[in-house]
Amino acid sequence: MCGIIGYIGEKNAVSVVIDGLKRLEYRGYDSAGIACLLDGKIKTVKCKGKIKNLEALIDDTLKDSKMAIGHTRWATHGKPSDENAHPHCSGSIALVHNGIIENYSEIKKELQKEGYNFVSQTDTEVIAHLVRKYREENLSLEDAVRKAVKRLKGSYAIVLMDEKEPDKLIGVRMESPLVVGISDNEKFIASDVPAFLNHCNKVIFLEDGEMIVLNKKDFKVYNLEGKEKKKELVTITWTASMAEKGGFKHFMLKEIYEQPRALSDTIRGRVLAEEGEIVFEEFGLTKDELKKVEKIYLVACGTSYHACLIGEYMIENIAKVPVEVDIASEFRYRNMPFERNSLFVAITQSGETADTLAALRYAKKSGVKTLTICNVLGSTASREADAVFYTHSGPEIGVASTKAFTSQIVALYILSIGLSIAKENSSKTLIKNLLEELLLLPRMAEETLALDKKIQALAKEVYRKPNFLYLGRGLNYPVALEGALKLKEISYIHAEGYAAGEMKHGPIALVEEGFPVIFIVSEDSYLDKTVSNIEEIKARDGFVITFSSSNMAKIRKLSDRFIYVKGINSYLNTVLFSIPLQLLAYHVALLRGCDVDQPRNLAKSVTVE
Ligand code: AGP
Repeated sequence: MCGIIGYIGEKNAVSVVIDGLKRLEYRGYDSAGIACLLDGKIKTVKCKGKIKNLEALIDDTLKDSKMAIGHTRWATHGKPSDENAHPHCSGSIALVHNGIIENYSEIKKELQKEGYNFVSQTDTEVIAHLVRKYREENLSLEDAVRKAVKRLKGSYAIVLMDEKEPDKLIGVRMESPLVVGISDNEKFIASDVPAFLNHCNKVIFLEDGEMIVLNKKDFKVYNLEGKEKKKELVTITWTASMAEKGGFKHFMLKEIYEQPRALSDTIRGRVLAEEGEIVFEEFGLTKDELKKVEKIYLVACGTSYHACLIGEYMIENIAKVPVEVDIASEFRYRNMPFERNSLFVAITQSGETADTLAALRYAKKSGVKTLTICNVLGSTASREADAVFYTHSGPEIGVASTKAFTSQIVALYILSIGLSIAKENSSKTLIKNLLEELLLLPRMAEETLALDKKIQALAKEVYRKPNFLYLGRGLNYPVALEGALKLKEISYIHAEGYAAGEMKHGPIALVEEGFPVIFIVSEDSYLDKTVSNIEEIKARDGFVITFSSSNMAKIRKLSDRFIYVKGINSYLNTVLFSIPLQLLAYHVALLRGCDVDQPRNLAKSVTVE
């Protein structure tokens, strides 16, 4: 997820664009750049690092430019560096992009054969060369852009300019947001409203497959066939701060709601469901390397550790490979004698967690092949592991991890399937079914978000409770652990996740009248036993709140509050159960007046031991 902005008008375009980039920095901040038109020529300034690094490189000579584009990056292809920063140029074209081009490598090879010189490792650069190529076939800029984007597979929001057309900005949207600010003698175009809300609040939201041509005084919107479309102007009433959160009250809520997109972006370009295949290159591991793996170690901290516990069930059940899971701060001191043909997997959203890095380094020193599942390109873990699988969930600003966690589960699901394909120990039908079910997940996650109102009402009933138990069996045991962690880390209520089968070994002594116990229940082999556990709690007058993918009448009857969560399969249900549990923690914390995005005593990335 990156931030892009374009401006054409009568102001100092570079200043408007830099200011807009600062308001988009929450969308990505590993490198930044601008391009502006001055005296008929495109001037480009870009660099690794935050926008303040870029500002230091910009001198007054650019202040007379009236048209500029800018970009603040969250790297997905090509590490953070000066040359990988946007804008990307080709001939008279300068372009910025937010999204993921799945077929960029084949287009890149084709263009290189035609003599186009690539200077970056990004997917974006292919778009700039494609537009130039079609311009050189004497197409109008609009037609060249349309022809270029029709070659692209994946998601993109692009804004470009051509020094041969000094009073024109073009934007195209496909699955990545683009919003346009319309004022009489100036136009703005950006990933998100905050970029220009301080200048203009009359906007057009572009839809997928729409292209906009902006001049200082007017604009036209077309579909990709060149047919003009009428668009209505919308007046934005948000404050600038609310706009940065996309109209949500907190980054955490915004990120909970971003999960369908984050899941879709993490799946994108990795799964070939019809063929029953996955794209092994995305893991940086070959099929042969995975085939040789006889043992897997999953190591992480906090929420990422809970993803490891889910991954353990997935890998052992789908790929039939034994797994050992450990908390990084314990693993790093165990002096683990690794088994032969092991694969060590460090799961880390930030890629900077000290204990996880120490465990990764121990594994590397021990000669074990290492993979990291990480959300930050260019982070320490992504540079030090032998192989990397990136979750494309975009920057996660809220301290409580939500979209990164569910994206980690998807990554582990794909890894499990890849291992099974490599070891040829599952039928093609099973593999295809698992992959087709994965493709359902983003939409099902969207449906789960519709429970928000119901969860809000539940939160009002329970937010004063001093203690909670979260119980689950099998894959729902780590879901219970994660649900409890979410509640305790943002609402400061004492909450414990437990294996439901463990109640009788002590914890059930806690249960008294009104004690809230949250059950996560799947339509699976644990169902009957879990129903018995609910009965045990009810017999002691506990207050049973059930999140269930089973509509069994008995469970409904036994539960004081019952929330049905439509499931897919027991692996992916861990994502679908986690979303309402994230919402419950959020609404309880809000009712308790807690700082949801920056809870006390916590940091987003624990870079110290
Ligand atoms: C999760 O809500 C917490 N913020 C915390 O447990 C986090 O998951 C843990 O610190 C690990 O961080 P990482 O994924 O960046 O390594």
